[in-house]
Amino acid sequence: MKKIGILFGQENSFPQAFVDRVNSKNEKGFIAEFAKINMVEQGAPTDYAVLIDRISQDIPFYRAYLKNAALNGTAVINNPFWWSADEKFFNNALMTKVGVTVPKTVLLPSNQHPPDTNEMSMRNLEYPLDWERIFNYVGFPAFFKPFAGGGWKNVYHLHSVDEFFQAYHETGQLVMMLQEAIDFTEYFRCYCLDRRDVRIMQYDPKQPHHLRYVRNPKPVEAKLLKRIEEDVLKINNALGYDFNTAEFAVRDGIPYAIDFCNPAPDAAIDSVGEENFEWVVEAAANMAIRRAKKHKEKQNNLTWGNFIESFVNVKELKGNSNKSG
Ligand SMILES: Nc1ncnc2c1ncn2[C@@H]1O[C@H](COP(=O)(O)OP(=O)(O)O)[C@@H](O)[C@H]1O
Ligand SMILES: [Mg+2]
Repeated sequence: MKKIGILFGQENSFPQAFVDRVNSKNEKGFIAEFAKINMVEQGAPTDYAVLIDRISQDIPFYRAYLKNAALNGTAVINNPFWWSADEKFFNNALMTKVGVTVPKTVLLPSNQHPPDTNEMSMRNLEYPLDWERIFNYVGFPAFFKPFAGGGWKNVYHLHSVDEFFQAYHETGQLVMMLQEAIDFTEYFRCYCLDRRDVRIMQYDPKQPHHLRYVRNPKPVEAKLLKRIEEDVLKINNALGYDFNTAEFAVRDGIPYAIDFCNPAPDAAIDSVGEENFEWVVEAAANMAIRRAKKHKEKQNNLTWGNFIESFVNVKELKGNSNKSG
C-alpha cells in the first residue's frame, strides 16, 4: 500500500477534501491521509510515496523533515530544496530568458546592514547607487516589495522619488526590489498543477480579501486566455513547481507576470469560491495519484525546473518542455 500524505497548518477546507477525493477514487494500492510525523531520524525513509506540502514555508522543522523524506524517495510537492533556494527576483530574472513578460525590476541592497555587519562587509557595493539610472529604468508609479516573501507584507505603491526614499528608510534590513507598476485592465490568478492543469481565475486585487476572486466574471478574449495559459506552463516548467499560482496584470493586451512564486497557494473554499475549490481538489487528487503511480523507491521523485537541466547540460533555455519530473 503506497501512502499519499498532506502536511498542512491552519487551513481547514482543502486538506480534508483532498484526502477524501483521493480515497473516493478507489485506486488499488493507494491511500491518502493527513501526514503523521514523530521521530525524524537522519537518512530514515518516511511512509509516504507522495507528500503534499502546504505549510513548510512557516515551519522550518517541516522543511528539514521534507528534505530528508525526499532524499529517501518521497515525491514532495513542491520540491523543498528548490523552494528553499528560490526568491522573487530570481523568478523575474528567469522569466526574461524563457519568454514570459515581466515588469521592469531591479534588486536593491537593504537600507540597513544585516545583523553583525557594517559598511566594511558590503564594500564591493558602489556608493551611492546610481539612483538616476535606476529611477529612469523603472519609472513611477512603481511597486517596492521584498525580494522574498508574500501576503502583501511590506508592499509599497510609490509615485515619486521622495515617496521612494521614505519607504526605503522604513524597510530596514529587508532586501527589496523596485518594480514598474502595471496599470492593468484585467488581473488574473492562475492555479497550475503538475505543470499541466491550468485554471485561470479573474481576480480583483483592489477588493477586500473575500471578494477578490471575481464571481460571474465577464468573458475574456480567447487569444489572451491562450497566452496566459502558455505563460503559466512556461513559468512552472522553468521553475519546477507542481502546485503554484501565478498572477498576471494585463496592460495593452499583454499579460505581465507579477507574483508567481506561491508554492502553497490559498485553496480555501471561502476565498476561492466553490467552483475553483472543486477544480483544485480534483486536480490535486489526480496529480497525487499520478505521482504515486510513477513513484520509484529510493530514487529522486522530485520535480526540478528545466532551467537547471539547461545549466547542467549547457542547453539553450526553453520555457515550455515538460521533461523535468
Ligand atoms: N508591478 C506591479 N504592477 C501592478 N500591481 C502590482 C505590481 N506588483 C504588485 N502589485 C499588486 O500588489 C499585490 C501584492 O504584490 P505581490 O507581488 O503579489 O506580493 P505578495 O507576494 O506579498 O503577495 C499584487 O497582488 C498586485 O495587486
Ligand atoms: Mg501576491
